Amino acid sequence: MTESLLVLRAPSANRVFTASAGPLAVREARWVLGAHLGAPVDVHEREIAGVDYLEIRTAAQEEASGSVVDGFLRPLVAQLSSTFAAFEASQPDAAAASAAVEPVGSALPLLRPTPLPGAMRHGSELETTLRYPGKTNEQFTALLLNLAAALSSRRGGVLRGDLAVLDPTCGRGTTLSRALRLGLSPTGADIDAKDIGAYRTFLTTWAKQQHLPHTQSSGRLGLRSPAGGRGAGSRWDLELAADRQAQRAGEVQKLHLLTCDTTRLGEVLPDRSVDALVADLPYGVQHGARTEGWQRSPLDLLEQAIPAWRALLRTGGGMALALNRRTAPYERVHEILGSHGLTVLSGDGAFRHRVDQAIDRDVVLAVPDDHPQLGLLRALAASADEPTSVSAAAATDPEATTTDPPARAEAHEPRERTRHE
Ligand SMILES: C[S@@+](CC[C@H](N)C(=O)[O-])C[C@H]1O[C@@H](n2cnc3c(N)ncnc32)[C@H](O)[C@@H]1O
Repeated sequence: MTESLLVLRAPSANRVFTASAGPLAVREARWVLGAHLGAPVDVHEREIAGVDYLEIRTAAQEEASGSVVDGFLRPLVAQLSSTFAAFEASQPDAAAASAAVEPVGSALPLLRPTPLPGAMRHGSELETTLRYPGKTNEQFTALLLNLAAALSSRRGGVLRGDLAVLDPTCGRGTTLSRALRLGLSPTGADIDAKDIGAYRTFLTTWAKQQHLPHTQSSGRLGLRSPAGGRGAGSRWDLELAADRQAQRAGEVQKLHLLTCDTTRLGEVLPDRSVDALVADLPYGVQHGARTEGWQRSPLDLLEQAIPAWRALLRTGGGMALALNRRTAPYERVHEILGSHGLTVLSGDGAFRHRVDQAIDRDVVLAVPDDHPQLGLLRALAASADEPTSVSAAAATDPEATTTDPPARAEAHEPRERTRHE
């Protein structure tokens, strides 16, 4: 009998997050799978023969609602940010166990490789080719996007391709590229015209190289400038199809790129149009070469942008914000979001991990106070914050208690180069 699904993490996840990789992956899976299933799911870290896995216990869920893992959970497992391979685990029967040559091995589960559905519409080069200081790590971006999507009452749109994603500080588009790979039609905004320009150039070159039929258009946003004149801000739109036939049939992905101050987005985008808002905010760490006048402290930016971001969110929408705890402490962020009609669901330090000496990163999850699924989301928040590991003995005994500490920052040299802003 299949006992659980074991997910092997991509080695790169361990390099990016080091010791926090396991807890982060568990919490992401609990949010994503639990949200789609409508109830907390049993996900833990489990070590087998010296290798770390993410264990998803399925028996209870399968009993309750048929073959869940074979149904819609498998595509979701495939989309988790660190998934590398999956195995069905089962205990060897007594005869096989007693005949085992290695007495130690006889206690180990049997792992059967199991295919996961292809989750991506485009290749990984879309996310990985662009390299620049300040790029948000792709795996972390995928985690952010998955978490924001899980919060949305329209979360099924991530599988259907119609979840509305906004990155309001998109830089050179790491979130947007992830969303495009998922088959979505995202919108991004950044105040830095150089970043937007670089992403535009990359995308058009990529589309040509991939022989993807595409059209583009651009224009002014006509925002009133601080000096009083109109005309500030610009937009660039891309329409992308898999082939000519799809293009003729109107089966296109659309990308909207806005060059403007994110605090002005309410003047450009329709209210209640966003399902998942994903932002890796400036970290507020001084960088000698970057002294542009538009830079605000991360907390000032958050405070000034939140009214617009809140208005853009659908009632059933959600946001996942990556922040530097050193310049944006949890209590202050909680206060700012709370005073703008948002309920913070993630605990203090739930996704905490070290990026470099100056950046102690965390993810804050929030939804509108009147989100229709607040009860479910609170239950998932509580389950996501539970310890993430099962001790070796407990792994074979579902009744045993969990033991490990939560995600923690590690003392190591930076693996991810971050532009300090
Ligand atoms: C941590 S970076 C995001 C990087 C991005 N995820 C990427 O991978 O390229 C933060 C971004 O916030 C942008 N930003 C800062 N202040 C802004 C503002 N007022 N309006 C819009 N974007 C802003 C910066 O230009 C920068 O690109």
